[in-house]
Amino acid sequence: MIRKAVIPVAGLGTRLLPLTRALPKEMLPIGDKPVIEHTIRELVDSGIDEITIVTSARKELVQRHFAPDADLERELRAAGKDEQAEAVAELSSLAHITYLYQNGPYGNGTPVLNAARVIGDEPFMVLWADDVFVAEVPRARQLRAAYEATRAPVLALMPMAVEDASRYGVPIVEEDLGGGRLRISGLVEKPRPEEAPSRYAAIGGYVVTPGVVAELEAATRRWHDRPEGEIYLTDALHRHAAANPVYGQVIDGDWWDTGTPLNYLRAQFAAALADPVHGPELRKLARES
Ligand code: G1P
Repeated sequence: MIRKAVIPVAGLGTRLLPLTRALPKEMLPIGDKPVIEHTIRELVDSGIDEITIVTSARKELVQRHFAPDADLERELRAAGKDEQAEAVAELSSLAHITYLYQNGPYGNGTPVLNAARVIGDEPFMVLWADDVFVAEVPRARQLRAAYEATRAPVLALMPMAVEDASRYGVPIVEEDLGGGRLRISGLVEKPRPEEAPSRYAAIGGYVVTPGVVAELEAATRRWHDRPEGEIYLTDALHRHAAANPVYGQVIDGDWWDTGTPLNYLRAQFAAALADPVHGPELRKLARES
């Protein structure tokens, strides 16, 4: 059973600068919520509410967004704004969130290892807060189901156009097991299109097991002997897959990637059109323009 998740937010968000100079990329709004709130709601909707956010001093707005604020609630209630007071209260009681400050070499494996040392010897989910999924069954629930069926590390995958390969980890597919489940024997990080081993992108959702954490520990020991390069989750999964089963789960749903300026605008556009209250009006506007 997976009860815990890790969301690393310590990255610099360089692809979206200068927009992300003061505003963490995880706090950029998609529709009426910042990206990270979508991520946390997705986890909670999937039955996972013990969440570790691995953060840095630059990202204090993330903490502030989810922090309880009794003074604000009281002021809102005094002003008769009960609905807004409820919204503030709901946000701060959404999940059990703990914050951890990143410590160690650069690379996206380090926050995962930092959190694993606190979580201990159990599998957990890792989500990057830069994709939003609109799916009948949340992405995290689909990933969890794949772990429960395989008891092995699982990566969330989406089909991609081959020319996008150099932006993603691309899995080496061994066997298609049906239902979007693939057995994979490794991953190539950001290959050139002509070298992409498949037409799937790893999209920032993983179930990490103690075996994968052991690979991150080993990589960090090697890094301490020779402090060069960065520690990547993709490398740890790739090494683990050489001798152990690892699976991919193609996610059933709509994927809004927010990681580049164009994709971020697309995600905002799609979220605006999908808004249950304002969507119809905005669709009219889009048709007229
Ligand atoms: C990371 C991973 C990559 C994955 C991507 C998904 O890369 O290393 O394998 O496909 O996230 O968003 P980044 O986007 O941090 O460079």
